[in-house]
Amino acid sequence: MRSQFQSSKLVTALLLGLTVVAGWAQSDFQGAMHPVPFNEAPIEYEKQKSSGPISRLEARIASGETKLKYDPVLGWLPALLEELGVSHKSQMLVFSKTSLQRSYISPRNPRALYFNDEMYIGWIPGAPVMEISEVDPLLGTVFYDLDNLDRDRPRFKQNTQCLNCHSSARSMGVPGHVLRSIGTDEAGEPDQMTAASEVNHRTPLADRWAGWYVTGSAGEQTHRGNCAGPDAVAAKERNRTSLDDLVNLEGYLRKDSDMVAMLVHDHQTHMHNFITRLNFETRIMMHRYGHIRYLRHQVDAFLRYLTFAEETELAGPVVGTSGFAEEFADRGPKDSTGRSLRDLDLKSRLFQYPCSYVIYTPSFDAIPEVMREHVLERLHAILSGEDDTEAYQRISPRAKEAALEILRETKKNLPDYWRVTSN
Ligand code: HEC
Repeated sequence: MRSQFQSSKLVTALLLGLTVVAGWAQSDFQGAMHPVPFNEAPIEYEKQKSSGPISRLEARIASGETKLKYDPVLGWLPALLEELGVSHKSQMLVFSKTSLQRSYISPRNPRALYFNDEMYIGWIPGAPVMEISEVDPLLGTVFYDLDNLDRDRPRFKQNTQCLNCHSSARSMGVPGHVLRSIGTDEAGEPDQMTAASEVNHRTPLADRWAGWYVTGSAGEQTHRGNCAGPDAVAAKERNRTSLDDLVNLEGYLRKDSDMVAMLVHDHQTHMHNFITRLNFETRIMMHRYGHIRYLRHQVDAFLRYLTFAEETELAGPVVGTSGFAEEFADRGPKDSTGRSLRDLDLKSRLFQYPCSYVIYTPSFDAIPEVMREHVLERLHAILSGEDDTEAYQRISPRAKEAALEILRETKKNLPDYWRVTSN
């Protein structure tokens, strides 16, 4: 399989000027991060029309059902967040110059990002456009820009230029999210001499958040946030509750860059890429061979991520500043005893139960049936303890059982064998 993609991988790498980081993400799809040919059949990414939240919002605007209000300082941002159900408490601030609008980003004027289960929204004070991505169940991530100088009405433009950065090995070879921790100089310019880390829930805290601001506390644990320039590991910057002295906060909705929101975002972006990749690879395999037997390792890696089997351990309590944690946990769905896959732990791990809430999203349900059924069967075996391979021994039997019980009550359309208790 690899050789078929060797040349496109090389060309893409050259075109994008990417450096392949040795040994990176070996455990994701066994290192097979080659670009998936997503513009060919059966995916044909650029030929399809998205059916995600932005298209639905455009239809509501066109029919007069909704009208967005333009704010003199924040443009379309507040109305857009409200309309799409994205909480301002999810605000995270990133100051590394890593965007299409890099010249507007600096440590004094960072980019703000907001997200919910399906949407990611980027805002830079003073920049002409907002950068938006949505999760489409069939297409993976779809990118838009929104002209923020045009006050008449919000015009969303699908933008394939974004794929230059958002579809490479760094986004698992599919249109998706890139997330890095990269040291910068005082102006926010990425410093190629310092190590960059790809960030997901496996990344140790000590390697995370270079190039980002972070508010909250992680106790004695170190991270790389809040510092630019040579002293980027200064311990005093670790547990900040205010960014007043660093950022010109006037052009933002809030004053914080919540640590818990960051942890959840770090998990979620990679989970979305994983789902897109599994969806695309399944469709391609079915199209070419009519079966999914060659995807065994991909499924293994997917399940390890879905169940947090390899997540980095927290060495002590993590607390945010915006109230994101409480709001996020409260969104449910909850079972009859009030438990939810969104219940955060934040002491030794991110969540209390070993299955990602992203399992409730339309994208998970849009994984082709042949693969979805297979994944659910394997997940059932893991959570019921029947699959006792080493990868899952780290997760406590009680936590597995709880996740199984929660899913049984809250996840729709589970196969019948999920309903029957084993004892
Ligand atoms: C020069 C490379 C580059 C280009 C081009 C680019 N981005 Fe990004 N984008 C990034 C990086 C890197 C991140 C991760 C956060 C960071 O480090 O700034 C990111 C993050 C994002 C996020 C936050 C969610 C996520 O994926 O982590 C959104 C939304 C986003 N970009 C939208 C866009 C849109 C829309 C376009 C096109 C108009 C675009 N980007 C073009 C590099 C780029």
